Amino acid sequence: MVAGPASSDLANNIAKRLGAQLTVAQLRIFSDGESKIKLDKVGKNCIIVQSTYQPTDTHLIQLMMMAKKCTDDGVEDICAVIPYLGYARQDRVFLEGEVVSIALVAKLFETVGIKHIVTVDIHSQLAMSYFASIQNVSSIPLLADHAYKMKLREPVAVSPDVGGTNRAKEFARHLKIDMVALKKSRDRVSGEVTIDEKLNTDISRRDVILIDDIISSGGSIIKAAEVLHKKGIGKIYAMCAHALLIGDAAQKIKSAGVQDIISTNSVPGEYAKVEISPAIVAALKSRY
Ligand code: R5P
Repeated sequence: MVAGPASSDLANNIAKRLGAQLTVAQLRIFSDGESKIKLDKVGKNCIIVQSTYQPTDTHLIQLMMMAKKCTDDGVEDICAVIPYLGYARQDRVFLEGEVVSIALVAKLFETVGIKHIVTVDIHSQLAMSYFASIQNVSSIPLLADHAYKMKLREPVAVSPDVGGTNRAKEFARHLKIDMVALKKSRDRVSGEVTIDEKLNTDISRRDVILIDDIISSGGSIIKAAEVLHKKGIGKIYAMCAHALLIGDAAQKIKSAGVQDIISTNSVPGEYAKVEISPAIVAALKSRY
């Protein structure tokens, strides 16, 4: 197993659980931002662990460099564990002239010899459809276990958008709690988010867990928190698989009255409180 520079701790946790030998890829970044990877020879099969959070393009090219080196060394089966798969949100042409970026990413992976991918909570089924062989691991049971231990008051799971309904339903089912999906719309040109303030369920005085796949700028969570606070709810927590939290997003989310942000360690950082390696290892064991 190879630990990519973006996921060294997670790779270590996965290797320990699998009982696999770990090789650490050595990285040098040049002053112009280019990456250089140095990697010892590995065996006939190889698992490379590299999440592609920001800087996404840098982490992607590093992953492809590691895969290319393995291919050149004669590795027959390269499996890439990419907990956060960047570009999955650009899974279709939203505005005329746009590139379906995730389709290009899939082609690039094939070119460097990646045979199989294991990812966590990929943004959409459509994004998944561009890959010939991919396993999508759900972080929901592990996030729900964490939420259960938080001892919240009559908690309700809330999805910030209709697209996240199934995710919030699954989360609510694990916790045996209610769920509500808000109606979010995003201006495709400005990126601005608006949320319909009408709710069909009374959730006043109840604690809320906002559940999403990705928290990036924090715009969706902040808008949802503003709407929910007007309903006289209890405390709000934000949970997600991938806390990208660009710039001061975390601070802005907390200023919007969200008590805490809880994510998996697909993206390392302060809010990566849920260890995702057990779910990844279960998926890998089903393949090997
Ligand atoms: C959108 O469909 C996704 O599920 C997330 O809600 C979105 O990517 C979050 O982005 P941001 O934090 O920038 O609003």
